[in-house]
Parts: sequence; C-alpha cells; structure tokens
Amino acid sequence: MVLSLVGGVCRGCVGIADRSDGARDQCGGISDWHVRRFWHRGLRASSCPSVPAEVGSGSVAPRRYPDAVNGYYRLAPALYDETARGVPGDIEFYRDLAVASGGPVVELGVGTGRIAIPTAAAGVEVIGIDLVPEMLEVARTRAEAAGVGSTLRLVEGDMRSFTVEMPVPLVTIPFRAFLHNLEDADQLETLRACHRALQPGGRLALNVFNPDLSIARRWAGRSERHYEPFDAAGKVEVHNDFDIRPARQTVTSKLRWREGGAIHRGSLTLRYVGREEMEALLAATGFEVESLFGDCLGSPFGDHSTEMVWVARRSS
Ligand SMILES: C[S@@+](CC[C@H](N)C(=O)[O-])C[C@H]1O[C@@H](n2cnc3c(N)ncnc32)[C@H](O)[C@@H]1O
Repeated sequence: MVLSLVGGVCRGCVGIADRSDGARDQCGGISDWHVRRFWHRGLRASSCPSVPAEVGSGSVAPRRYPDAVNGYYRLAPALYDETARGVPGDIEFYRDLAVASGGPVVELGVGTGRIAIPTAAAGVEVIGIDLVPEMLEVARTRAEAAGVGSTLRLVEGDMRSFTVEMPVPLVTIPFRAFLHNLEDADQLETLRACHRALQPGGRLALNVFNPDLSIARRWAGRSERHYEPFDAAGKVEVHNDFDIRPARQTVTSKLRWREGGAIHRGSLTLRYVGREEMEALLAATGFEVESLFGDCLGSPFGDHSTEMVWVARRSS
C-alpha cells in the first residue's frame, strides 16, 4: 500500500504511562482518574494550518515541534519504552480488532510500537504514524528485532492531517494519544482525518482516560519525585510537577530527569475529554458509536470506570 501524508504541526503533544509499581500514573500525568460528572463543551470548528509534506517518499517538511514533543518524546524515547505500560489488556484489545478487520490498520501515535509490533506479528499489515522520529526509530529497531519489519510500516506524520492512498477498515489511537490534541480544532481535524482514511463502514477505536475532577483538584500544584526503572544502569530520577487548568481541561506534567549524568527537562500536556464531549466529537465528524467500554478488557463503561474505550463506525 502506498501511503502519502500531509504533515503539519499546529501544536501540542503529550503522553501517559502507568507506573510499573502498579500505582497508575500519567507518563507525565495522572491516569488514576475516574469520572462521575463532566461538563459538555460546545464544539466549534476552526482552521488548523498545516504544512504539506510527502512523507511516504521519505521526505519531511520542516516542522516546529510543540514543546511537549521536544521535551519528552524526542529526548526520552528509551525512557518512554521502559516506563509506558499501557492499560491492562490494550495490546490484545487492539490486536484482536485488527485481526478481525483483516487490515491494513492505521495506528496513530504509534510510538515505539508497543501495540503495533504484536499486531503485525499476528499477521496484520500495520501503518504506524507518529510525529516524533526518535520514537519511530526505536519502533523500527524493535520491529526488525521482532521480525515484522516488512509488516509494520512506520511513517512520520501528524494524526491531524494524515491521509492514506487506499482506505483502510480500521484506524486506532491507543493509549490516550488522542489527548495530545489540545484544541477543539486539533480534535476535529484528527477525527476528520480518520474518517477520510476509513472505508465505508470502517471502524475507529481509541481509548482515553476517564477524568475525575476531584482528582484534578487533589493533584493541582502537586510535586513529586520518583524513580523509574531504566536499563541495566539502574533507575532514572524523575521530578514531576503538575499544573492543572480545569478551565482549559489540561494537565501539564513538568518533568526533570537525571540520566547519564545530565539533567533533562520536558513537559507533557494532556487535554482530557468527558464522555458526552467525546460522543459529540464523534457524531460531529461522521461516526456512530458502536461500543463504549470501561477498560480494554471489555467491561461495560460505568461510574467507576477509569478508562473510556470507544469503538465507532464511519457512518457516512
Ligand atoms: C502515549 S504515546 C502512545 C504510543 C503507543 N501507541 C503506545 O500505546 O505505547 C503517544 C504517541 O503519540 C505521538 N503523537 C503525539 N502527537 C501526535 C500527532 N499530532 N500526530 C502523530 N503522533 C503524535 C507521540 O509522539 C507518542 O509517540
């Protein structure tokens, strides 16, 4: 399959991970959020400037990275790989959807291939798209090592503006990567790009954490220090300061970490979405919700769910 992308960076990027000690935490943020109540934000479309680039052929237009990308994913792809554990069952959940679709599958925010590699190993052709070449480089090395270098195609591109030459039956945005969209326009552009990439009746599957505003209040202004397991050398010391802006629906994790004698700084910002808001976004961009689960193990969504796992069908 030939893939061409129109890349262009408008703004914003973040990431999340669960801590290895079992205490759920954002990779830079908070993930132990379970929502009860949420406000519905009015949707309005606005333009999102993009810079055209033929990424499929290997050339990439000059682009400006949002600070969050520069500061974390670009600097610390290996740290990400060591610490990002996803949410329970997510690898199997997305892999099984991919197998059922027959492929090819587009995974947006493919990162280091945590989900894409097992999916490709199950025999499904995957097109993995990510904004950050450093993350893709790690994914490439891992894919080669896993023997799926030809089944998993890794492409630098932007989820808000990617295009595929041949529509696919499934687009996925695992592990909360959708929350990298910090503006209304970014969210809408991403969903519209997914709609364009899908065959009629094709599916979009994504998961985002289910925000709990009481936790947001508790975490506001909090600063913590912890140690992440990291390579044979031991551990990386990470300082995490949280900046919560409820009116913007954003959580920023300001990270400092010590690695190899050097101190790095980065920040990660997420814009969380509520259930009704996500439903409205999907409806506004031509999707019909097929299922909403409370986790990647298939539990029904409910008051105490920590995750929103959406499967939606392209309806028009
Ligand atoms: C939380 S990680 C998820 C990685 C992988 N899917 C996983 O499950 O481990 C989010 C990824 O999205 C990428 N990303 C952020 N903004 C993006 C954008 N606008 N377009 C494409 N990728 C983006 C980041 O570089 C990062 O690799």
